Amino acid sequence: MEAKGGTVLYACSVVLILTGVSCNFIHISSLVHHGVEGEPLLLSVATHFPLNETEIQGTWSHTTPSGTRTTLVTFTKDTSITNMMFRNHLVFSEPNVSLFIQKLNQMDEGDYHLNLNIAFHNTTVHVIKEDRTVRVTVDVPVSHPVVEKSPSYAVIEDEANVTMTCSVKRGTRVRFKWLRNNVSLAPSDRYHYSQDNSTLVISPVRKEDKGIYCCVARNPVSLGQSSRALELNVYYGPYNLEVNSIYGLRTGEVFTINPGELVFFECRADSNPPNSYVWISKRHNTTEVITEGPRMEVLFYRLAQTEEYLCRAFNNVTQKQDEAQFTLIVADLGTEKEKHTQEGHPVSSLAAIAACSLFVIGFMLLFFLRRTCHPKRVIMSIYNRPFSEQKRPHRSGHEDATEDFGIYEFVSIPGKMDSAQASCRSLARLESIQDMHTTIYDVIRHVPETQSHSLLS
Ligand SMILES: *[C@@H]1O[C@H](CO)[C@@H](O)[C@H](O)[C@H]1NC(C)=O
Ligand SMILES: *[C@@H]1O[C@H](CO)[C@@H](O)[C@H](O)[C@H]1NC(C)=O
Ligand SMILES: *[C@@H]1O[C@H](CO)[C@@H](O)[C@H](O)[C@H]1NC(C)=O
Ligand SMILES: *[C@@H]1O[C@H](CO)[C@@H](O)[C@H](O)[C@H]1NC(C)=O
Repeated sequence: MEAKGGTVLYACSVVLILTGVSCNFIHISSLVHHGVEGEPLLLSVATHFPLNETEIQGTWSHTTPSGTRTTLVTFTKDTSITNMMFRNHLVFSEPNVSLFIQKLNQMDEGDYHLNLNIAFHNTTVHVIKEDRTVRVTVDVPVSHPVVEKSPSYAVIEDEANVTMTCSVKRGTRVRFKWLRNNVSLAPSDRYHYSQDNSTLVISPVRKEDKGIYCCVARNPVSLGQSSRALELNVYYGPYNLEVNSIYGLRTGEVFTINPGELVFFECRADSNPPNSYVWISKRHNTTEVITEGPRMEVLFYRLAQTEEYLCRAFNNVTQKQDEAQFTLIVADLGTEKEKHTQEGHPVSSLAAIAACSLFVIGFMLLFFLRRTCHPKRVIMSIYNRPFSEQKRPHRSGHEDATEDFGIYEFVSIPGKMDSAQASCRSLARLESIQDMHTTIYDVIRHVPETQSHSLLS
């Protein structure tokens, strides 16, 4: 055992000499602690040396942020002396030299130094010195943030500044963050923040600032807490004024339409609140208001007539307006258009017609063939009875044979005799068919003079 301690020490000395890095006989997992006020905190130390083979001696001391240093605990392997001032506040736990703070307060903030000397038994020369510093902050958790806006009403673009403030009732070292429509605000030279970001001044306000705002408050011991949403409404526009029509042909600002066509034009611009629109006709150096609203409806009947029109959009809050001018030409456009469409796909339309025709012809042919070739089928056994009886089934239904015209097929029952079929025979060959065992007749061609002998005559 003694040899082991000595070996560890020796090995470490070699490492220290070679690399300048000391062995870690103690380990502190976290060198920064964010403590919550009123709660306990353990400054945990793990020792990596055999306590029964060593002598230790050390101190825990505390330096406040202002720089005042106090010794908290002095200890050896067997005893510890805690500073009288902190007897009810600190617990020094042996043998692992951890320090436990029972109930954190703001005074506990600062750096905690552990100074430890380790001497191995039977080693008189070397004493290992270990020094560690743990930083402790003590914070109050952040309460729910409250957001306010000034002015509280909607503002006009480029004219107003908006101030938003975020505040919390409780919380230390609170940092604020601002979101618009759930996205962090991108930096802008129109955004001015207070030091902790609790106040945001937008100067001047622009269209793109419109949205739903909220602030998020956080500190080292609280996850971000979000305030309620606050809407910022900005009046702006009109912007991007446009005149459109689904009718006629458009070339830039010139619309060509058919005479006699009823045409609608639509005027649109981005604006808050919505614009009011006025349509103006310019003719012979005079202007005339035709209609109001986003739509203009006109019926042109004269050919080769050119007219100038104007759509004016006005935002009655921003007191700004914009206008778009366009020219109307009435020309016979319809036939031209048709020609275009025909020329556009001459091959494909011809092909389609040809394909359709072929399909119809093919279908008719198929139908015709089926009709002529598929006989009505009658199954009967012919050898059990005399031939004269065979005509019975044909006559039994009714005496008028005119409805029985058609192609007939006689099939003998398999097994008793070779069966055969006659089908699709030409009508001309009817008289020659006399195979009595198998097939009899295909067609009754004419209305016979006497019904009783019609089949066999
Ligand atoms: C140190 O000892 C204390 C009390 O015995 C114990 O609560 C703590 O978990 C120990 N810490 C380590 C790192 O072993
Ligand atoms: C907005 O703020 C600017 C300075 O950032 C100031 O010059 C201006 O007068 C303010 N406008 C209003 C309406 O308060
Ligand atoms: C149109 O009005 C302008 C001034 O607004 C004038 O100078 C011009 O002579 C007028 N033209 C006709 C054809 O009236
Ligand atoms: C502005 O125009 C809207 C319609 O576009 C109308 O409802 C509103 O009363 C107008 N406001 C003012 C101040 O004229």
